[in-house]
Amino acid sequence: MSEKKANVEAETASAQHYFTLHDNVNGKSYDLPVLEGSEGPRVIDIRTLYRDAGVFTFDPGFTSTASCESGITYIDGENGILRHRGYSIEDLAENSDYLDVCYLLLHGELPSPEEKGDFDQTITSHTMLHEQLNYLYRGFRRDAHPMAVMVGVVGALSAFYHDSTDISDPRQRMTAAHRLIAKMPTIGAYSYKYCMGQPFVYPSNSLSYSENLLKMMFAVPTEEYEVNPVLARAMDRILILHADHEQNASTSTVRLAGSSGANPFACIAAGIASLWGPAHGGANEAVLKMLEEIGSKDQIPNYIKRAKDVKDDYRLMGFGHRVYKNYDPRAKVMRKTCHDVLGELGINDPLLEVAMELERIAVEDDYFVERKLYPNVDFYSGIILKALRLPTNMFTVIFAIARTVGWIAHWKEMMSEGSTKIGRPRQLYVGETERKFTAVDVRESKQSRGWSWLWGGNG
Ligand code: CMC
Repeated sequence: MSEKKANVEAETASAQHYFTLHDNVNGKSYDLPVLEGSEGPRVIDIRTLYRDAGVFTFDPGFTSTASCESGITYIDGENGILRHRGYSIEDLAENSDYLDVCYLLLHGELPSPEEKGDFDQTITSHTMLHEQLNYLYRGFRRDAHPMAVMVGVVGALSAFYHDSTDISDPRQRMTAAHRLIAKMPTIGAYSYKYCMGQPFVYPSNSLSYSENLLKMMFAVPTEEYEVNPVLARAMDRILILHADHEQNASTSTVRLAGSSGANPFACIAAGIASLWGPAHGGANEAVLKMLEEIGSKDQIPNYIKRAKDVKDDYRLMGFGHRVYKNYDPRAKVMRKTCHDVLGELGINDPLLEVAMELERIAVEDDYFVERKLYPNVDFYSGIILKALRLPTNMFTVIFAIARTVGWIAHWKEMMSEGSTKIGRPRQLYVGETERKFTAVDVRESKQSRGWSWLWGGNG
């Protein structure tokens, strides 16, 4: 190894709880404290590293970086474990309802019967939108993507609810949390109705959270709407399974936005924007598009071949996860729910057959096995939402509704820490070093240099 490069020789000293880093450039060693959480890998505290050693660490995708301390969600990706506040996701999905999980994420404990009653009542009383907000929708094109509408409308909440934007007041922070959890189904359903050209359906306080969401999306003024309990339960499961997932891209976005002191509505709008991408929450929409493109079982080998080709960027959507190197525990629950819904609706969907065959082949194929690429939660949620007759562009909206509680719980946790340090990563600078400015009339003409400047080649 080059002498110029710092040779980081790591040696754990668990007895002293220090991690010793040796720099071959200056011959010095640095003892870094090792932090231990209640579960999970130990964490090297590098906060003084730049001050003491004058070096940064480099971890662009945060694959080895703990960005914060948190007591909300624990994931063990190797063993396929996901727990919220200590309760396994399987247990919660089977035995609780979405608002129970919301309370748990926000407060750290499951609510008592009285607390649950009060919480449900509080959320229900916040479901309506300021009437003026309803007019905001008219500013959007009818063919706008509902996620684009969501980013705009949620960002605009801070212009309407001034009495819950003082982030230094814990009571206002909690009111903002309640408002966001309560209003997201209404905002999401209105985004759908607006794109469909149908009238908005106001929330009904007699219905549960999931029943209400289904009604606001699917009821029309000309017909009675009865909520199917199997579908309401399935929607509730989808919401529970997406409620939180530790420091993923959108949650980290919310935390980073919040670290500057931005108000909670603006932070959640940032989270929605981050969620929209196909590598994150947009994956369930991408799964459906992929299944439609594959079309039939006999085409699957062609797509598997493409996914395995190193020269082809193509990926199987709904497979793989940054953290889970085992079966995503949420996918297991979702798979069952998927069959329940299709059974209830009597749907024999050819896309489901394609999905099942794809899953079978992929989990047996060496390429996927070696890289531990298992179906993730989005693989099945897309099929369920399609069976519920939601258009694909609404899939990520449902994810955003569900994840709002996770975002706001993390934001609240961060804001309660007392002093919040603004998130400010550093970089490995690879640009030009200092050079002299040249006046425009003495700069070399690009044409005289030929066309190579256009593509950056050497001519
Ligand atoms: N299809 C084919 N190959 C894949 C896939 C896939 N879906 N995912 C990863 N790989 C390969 C990748 O090409 C690489 O191969 P090699 O080592 O030969 O270069 C290897 O597996 C590792 O991939 P990576 O990109 O280093 O893994 P990552 O942890 O950075 O990416 C991921 C995680 C979720 C972005 C990625 O697996 C992916 O793009 N999956 C498809 C999109 C998707 O389903 N996203 C939803 C994630 S779950 C919902 C959520 O939490 O938001």
